[in-house]
Amino acid sequence: MTRTVYLNGEWIAETEAKVSIFDRGFLFADAIYEVTAVIDGKLIDFPGHAARLRRSLDALGIAMPVEETELLALHKEIAQRNGITEGLIYLQISRGVQDRDFLFPKAMEPTFVMFTQAKRVLDNPKWKTGLSLKTVPEGRWSERQIKTVQLLYSSLRKTEANRNGFDDVLFVENGLITEASSANFHIVTAAGELITRDLSNALLHGITRGSIVDLARQAGITAHERAFTVEEVTSASEAFLTSATSFVTPVVRLDGETIGNGKVGPVSERLLDIYIQDQLSRGVPIAD
Ligand code: PDD
Repeated sequence: MTRTVYLNGEWIAETEAKVSIFDRGFLFADAIYEVTAVIDGKLIDFPGHAARLRRSLDALGIAMPVEETELLALHKEIAQRNGITEGLIYLQISRGVQDRDFLFPKAMEPTFVMFTQAKRVLDNPKWKTGLSLKTVPEGRWSERQIKTVQLLYSSLRKTEANRNGFDDVLFVENGLITEASSANFHIVTAAGELITRDLSNALLHGITRGSIVDLARQAGITAHERAFTVEEVTSASEAFLTSATSFVTPVVRLDGETIGNGKVGPVSERLLDIYIQDQLSRGVPIAD
């Protein structure tokens, strides 16, 4: 099926959507993105994604091309036009088109693209089995709080790990976990306390992470935001990833060693359930 995509104010067939070879997103990875899930016809954690979009654009000095009300209207319209009730909406904004030059002017016309991906995000087999991760050295740039499209290091390491039988990688810097290739990483101690890395430039400030920490605390789970080591992971009783497309996904193995009893743990399962229930009640319906 041909999707209808959004490109700079127009709705067009995906096969007709073209961006210049001089776009700085293409030449310099000078672009930011957001991914928002849709479940049961509702936008998941939309206000958080909209707020982070603005922070990423501000950090790079790219003008926000639309107001937040328009941004919400575009998300609803693209889901409606493509009949998406479960899946995801991808949005990317680059600085725009300019003859190749390391220097760029202050004001440029951004390139704004959106498309949908139909996906059974609520039917994730890894929620039952858990994931197996591999540690790899952190090799990304130092401004990881900005959601840029510079994803090559993550993509290379994840693909390599995947070919060796792992589901994903866990980046380690100075002995401390930063995050996974495209998700935040958390552990649960034997005492049932949640530990997640504190926010800094070392990691993306995941929207799902923020919601999960809030929901955990509301559910009476103590949550500590601090850096933690690889050893703390292998001696934890549970571990899990959070992201917009996988919500809460248990991790049961690190570098071949089991975490806890090697099975999906009760805290991860509970947080996944609480998150989905919360979003089903608070998510923004795509149809008014
Ligand atoms: N990735 N860390 C990284 C490096 C990420 O790429 C992502 C999300 C997250 C989780 O953030 P959030 O909860 O806001 O989705 C953490 C998206 C889903 C992607 O690249 O497809």
